[in-house]
Amino acid sequence: MNYVNQYDKYLNLFNIELNKCILSIKEKPSVLKDAMVYAISGGGKRIRPVLCYGTAEVLGLDCSAVNEFAVAVEMIHSYSLVHDDLPAMDNDDYRRGKLSTHKKFGEAYGILAGDALLNYAHEYCLSKKDFSLKDAKALKLLSEYAGYNGMIAGQVYDMQYEKKPVVNEKELYEVYNKTYKLITAPLLIASILSDNKYYEELKEFGFHLGSMFQIVDDIMDVEGDLALIGKTPNKDIAVDKLTSIKVFGLDGARKKAEYHYNSGKMVLSKIKNSEFLSALNDAMFIRNK
Ligand code: IPE
Ligand code: IPE
Ligand code: MG
Ligand code: MG
Ligand code: MG
Repeated sequence: MNYVNQYDKYLNLFNIELNKCILSIKEKPSVLKDAMVYAISGGGKRIRPVLCYGTAEVLGLDCSAVNEFAVAVEMIHSYSLVHDDLPAMDNDDYRRGKLSTHKKFGEAYGILAGDALLNYAHEYCLSKKDFSLKDAKALKLLSEYAGYNGMIAGQVYDMQYEKKPVVNEKELYEVYNKTYKLITAPLLIASILSDNKYYEELKEFGFHLGSMFQIVDDIMDVEGDLALIGKTPNKDIAVDKLTSIKVFGLDGARKKAEYHYNSGKMVLSKIKNSEFLSALNDAMFIRNK
């Protein structure tokens, strides 16, 4: 199967699972459900669930083993975007080609929908049939990688280094926790569920893929436009964020993205049957949205 068809297959599985959980919530208050559905629907690339399914298959697992986790990681990612867009953080009016959640529903419901998505991610994983010790370990990893040592720590550094004359790689990679942790988590979830197969290699690949992904995001902020990237461009310079471009310059950032791309590829050469992950690495390197 070629890369595009395989990506579509995983998207399909993800959408089926999403329909089974969040889209079928019946309980009130309906405004909460509406805001959650709005935040997670449409426009997103779904790279994190696709990584979860793709890695599961690389490791010889059936996709059904990771259904709940694939949806959970996208719920957590979507909540992180809702909160990232709030006035107290990046203050962004557009996301995924439409009004950001707090613009559509108001700030309070934006905050609460984000909170609810985070909780629901855990609730949904815990509702997995025959939830096992391995599932518990995978969920613990997801909590850690999303939490205070993971994505949230990165978001804190992102705020702390704003408008600061910091131009070092060390601080940049502290900020990048915001991205590479939630990109690594789906890889490691699949590894844990297959008895830690290729755990260290996948952890290293996740760091390179996630760092490359964020460098490309930094570059798109400078070069993209709203119609293509679905969010307002030139935001990072306007508030003086610590980005790869601030540290390395535009050409330097491109070289750094290439370094992570090649390093990721090298790690994958040690993992059997990892062609899909390699093709995804290629696609994310040349993406423009
Ligand atoms: C955007 O993530 C925020 C970053 C971590 C760079 P994505 O580029 O994966 O956003 P969607 O999910 O496709 O909208
Ligand atoms: C956001 O990074 C990362 C998270 C939401 C955790 P950015 O602030 O660069 O993402 P965009 O550019 O708003 O998508
Ligand atoms: Mg941000
Ligand atoms: Mg932002
Ligand atoms: Mg950005």
